[in-house]
Amino acid sequence: MPDKALLSLQLDHLKELQARYESALADQGFDSLLIASGAAPYRYGDDQAWHFQGYGPFLHWTGLTGREHCWLWLRAGHQPVLWLHEPVDFWHANQPLAEEPWQTFIEVRSSQSPEAPVLDDPGSLAVIGDPALLDNVPGEPNPENLLRALDETRVRKTPYEIECLAHANALALAGHRAARDAFADGESEFGISLAYQQATRQREADAPYHSIIGVNDHAGTLHYQYYDTQPPGHSRSLLIDAGVRFRGYCSDITRTTAGPGESHFAALVHGLERVQLRLCDMVAPGVDYIDIHRKAHQGIAALLSATGLVTGLEDYEIIEQGITRVFFPHGIGHFLGVQVHDVAGKPTPPPEDAPFLRLTRQLEPGMVVTIEPGLYFIPSLLDPLLEGKVGQHLNQELINRLRGCGGIRIEDNVVVTETGSRNLTRDG
Ligand code: GLY
Ligand code: MN
Ligand code: MN
Repeated sequence: MPDKALLSLQLDHLKELQARYESALADQGFDSLLIASGAAPYRYGDDQAWHFQGYGPFLHWTGLTGREHCWLWLRAGHQPVLWLHEPVDFWHANQPLAEEPWQTFIEVRSSQSPEAPVLDDPGSLAVIGDPALLDNVPGEPNPENLLRALDETRVRKTPYEIECLAHANALALAGHRAARDAFADGESEFGISLAYQQATRQREADAPYHSIIGVNDHAGTLHYQYYDTQPPGHSRSLLIDAGVRFRGYCSDITRTTAGPGESHFAALVHGLERVQLRLCDMVAPGVDYIDIHRKAHQGIAALLSATGLVTGLEDYEIIEQGITRVFFPHGIGHFLGVQVHDVAGKPTPPPEDAPFLRLTRQLEPGMVVTIEPGLYFIPSLLDPLLEGKVGQHLNQELINRLRGCGGIRIEDNVVVTETGSRNLTRDG
């Protein structure tokens, strides 16, 4: 059972959501809103469904992941109603709902049917959710302007959400410690994954995203998606990017560890961590997140130069020649919430020099962002650079030695406060 303080914050969170949603509905000309939790689709040509996690706005209100065919009805000035799908079914279980104070704010009705409930006097109704489930449901389905306005209600986190995100961080950090120990013991990627799951007490399918666990050169694939089941023989490096969900809220943490005897790689990890901590310190109200991304390139240019990977160029030239983008091809981070890449990050498209950036806004108190610089040895990006005219400035011998370590990413989850920031990943 979560502590009383958190449960009481949840009531404040719900009151705030009621106000934010009522305002969005009024602005868009709706009297009420029905939210579908969703349901897992079946795999094509198969009788097996994908694993289900739940639709963002439904999680925003309830935090109840893994609940299919539930419906939440919101109306100005009325108590929200949640239809909880609890069919009599001898194939599947119904997860019992813990009795908690939020049920004084939201009326819960048990429902046998997966269908949308019949609503009493809904007025002008919007219904949102997976379009595959909205056929024959009354109301306007997924009105685009309303969806954008509802996304905006998720941008500034309430104190309850921040505590949930902090908790999701603490849980994931226990997993990261266990993963690092498993790597030190020479475990395979699969063994490291088991250690992470055991320490976090979370099935991998319930994690906010598929854990990225790359040993040696696999660490150089940004979203490496397989697990070697056999130990590597020689454990040179580990990159693990893995999170936990707590009451619907996600953590998204990456740590990189150098194996024994990898002094060059260890120095790079240490150098990138110093860059990363400086970037975390930049997080504050009024700061343009794109500037943090650009500062990351400056830090990486300086690191490439200081470690002798690049020689004979000034830092600004290392950036201008596109060298930092080869070593750091992704964006510096994104919003975090009930989705790992939370919504509303790009009201304007990313600039040309940062095409993969998922967040282009000025920071405001309550926003929660990741800060995740990387430095990778990615053959498909590096080799054309080595063969081109800037190849003469790259230390090919050192690069070839480090290729087998794959790459580095260091990722924390940071809240923008009124005066600066709180790093949820390094709080403790
Ligand atoms: N784990 C995915 C990401 O860092 O964005
Ligand atoms: Mn990540
Ligand atoms: Mn991330």
